[in-house]
Amino acid sequence: MSRSVYVTRVIPQPGIDLLREHVDVEVNESDEPLSAEKLRLRAGSHDALVTVLTDKIDSAVLQSGEGSLKIVANVAVGYDNIDVPAATAAGIMVSNTPGVLTETTADFAWALLMSVARRIPEAQSFLRTGKFQGWGIMMMLGEDIHGKTLGIAGFGRIGQAVAQRATGFGMKILYYDPVVQAEDAARRLGARSVDLNTLLRESDFISVHTPLTPETRHMIGKEQFDLMKDSAYLINTSRGPVIDETALVGALKANRIRGAALDVFENEPQVHPELLQFDNAVVTPHIASASVATRSRMATMAAENVIAALDGQRPPTLINEELSNG
Ligand code: GLV
Repeated sequence: MSRSVYVTRVIPQPGIDLLREHVDVEVNESDEPLSAEKLRLRAGSHDALVTVLTDKIDSAVLQSGEGSLKIVANVAVGYDNIDVPAATAAGIMVSNTPGVLTETTADFAWALLMSVARRIPEAQSFLRTGKFQGWGIMMMLGEDIHGKTLGIAGFGRIGQAVAQRATGFGMKILYYDPVVQAEDAARRLGARSVDLNTLLRESDFISVHTPLTPETRHMIGKEQFDLMKDSAYLINTSRGPVIDETALVGALKANRIRGAALDVFENEPQVHPELLQFDNAVVTPHIASASVATRSRMATMAAENVIAALDGQRPPTLINEELSNG
């Protein structure tokens, strides 16, 4: 009996090629996000879905797949777009792509950190708009990074990789993570575990690396901005709703913090319009893992999960373990 997988968006070709060696593959070549209705139809007519973070895989979609759909393989490490308990209840496996994007995402968090501290996007636009009329000793003064204190909220794989890079800058490293046990990594990196308020109070740079869960939604809001140094920078490469975007706009307006660099937003693809007005807010369109190699590896990892599930084996990065085939 032939088995079929539906891929909800165009993904890197190595993932498609690997799938095609094993199963029938249909791809949403339009590369537009699918409507809820189309997602439900695809869930009901295929053995596997390969999804991305713009696909809302809610209980209605999962119920359409109940009885036939074996796995939803998300091409992302985060899976807040999927109702995992509903998937488990419907007997549908869910997988993600952890590990392969860790270093690439950490690189990008650093790119944002350096961009905002040294005002690189602002300086580029200054030059491109003809304002560079001669060198100036007072021109575009930014903040140093080396020797400062980096606070990492969420000390999992990516948070630790960000900390690793900070050691090269001679930074003091603080972290907050009420979930992950990271004592060994902390020792190796010279990082100190603190509560969130201490991290907010003492850090010059705060970089967010938590998954989005009910506990982390709006983890950083007005109260938290009020604790930060007025010279602090906030960097977010995790999920937008971890930060209350309206409170962030308020903090920038009131000069409560020195700047922010964000790859993720509360209501993507919308960005709070006022955020775009600030020179000291660097904004990028959710691209932290977007290197050619990493996005390809994420695609093949999703394919490996699909193939294992359809072969009756345990998908290598299964999330709802209780459904393990093996
Ligand atoms: C991207 O945001 C991911 O979760 O992989």
